[in-house]
Amino acid sequence: GPVPGRRVLLTGASGGVGHYVTELAAAAGAQVTAVTRDAERGARLAGLGAAEIVHDVADARGPYDVVLESTGGRALPLALARLARRGTLIWFGQASRTPVTLDFFDFFSGPESAVIRHFHYLDADSRLDDDLAALVRLTDEGRLHPEIGRVTDWADTATTLTDLRDRRIRGKAVLTLS
Ligand SMILES: NC(=O)c1ccc[n+]([C@@H]2O[C@H](COP(=O)([O-])OP(=O)(O)OC[C@H]3O[C@@H](n4cnc5c(N)ncnc54)[C@H](OP(=O)(O)O)[C@@H]3O)[C@@H](O)[C@H]2O)c1
Repeated sequence: GPVPGRRVLLTGASGGVGHYVTELAAAAGAQVTAVTRDAERGARLAGLGAAEIVHDVADARGPYDVVLESTGGRALPLALARLARRGTLIWFGQASRTPVTLDFFDFFSGPESAVIRHFHYLDADSRLDDDLAALVRLTDEGRLHPEIGRVTDWADTATTLTDLRDRRIRGKAVLTLS
C-alpha cells in the first residue's frame, strides 16, 4: 500500500533484496531505517535514501509502521517489539537459517494487535513478470540502482552461493555465460 511518511524498518538491508527495498520505499516517501551488519556493508544505503542506518536491530528506536523482516533468529522478535500498535510485519525470509521464537505477551508492550504477514512472491497477487518488467523499466530510466557486489563466470556458482550465504557479497551477484 501507500507509504509516504510511514516509518519502515528493514532488516538484512545490505542484501540483494534490501538495496532494492530501500531505494523503492524511500522514493515512494517512506522513512526507512536500514539494519545492516556494519558500515562497509551499508555503504550504499544512505545514497539510496535510507534515513537511518543501524548495525543491530536492537539499536533501532521505533516505533515503526511497517517492518520488513528476512533474517529470522533473534531479529524478528526484536523488530516486532519496535512495531507500532496495529502495525504490520512482513516476514519474507530467514537468512540466518535460525527459526524464530515469539512470546504472546511481548505484544502487550507495543505491537498490540499487530499483523504478521508471511510473504512469498510465488504466492503474490501481482504477476511476477509485471513486477520484473517494472524493475527493469525503473533501472533503465535511472530511477533504480542495482547494487552488484560481484560479477563472475557461471562456473563459479558454487563459491558465489557460499559467499552470499556467508555475507561476503554486498547486494547482487551476477553470473555470466561465456
Ligand atoms: N519471500 C520471498 O518471496 C523472497 C524473495 C526473495 C528472497 N527472499 C529471502 O529474503 C532474504 C533476503 O534475500 P536476498 O536475496 O537479499 O539475500 P542476501 O543477498 O543473501 O541478503 C541477506 C541479508 O541478510 C543479512 N544476513 C545474512 N545472514 C544473517 C544472519 N546470520 N543474521 C542476521 N542477518 C543476516 C545480511 O545482511 P548484513 O550482513 O548486512 O547484516 C544479508 O545481506 C533471504 O532469506 C531470501 O531467501 C524471499
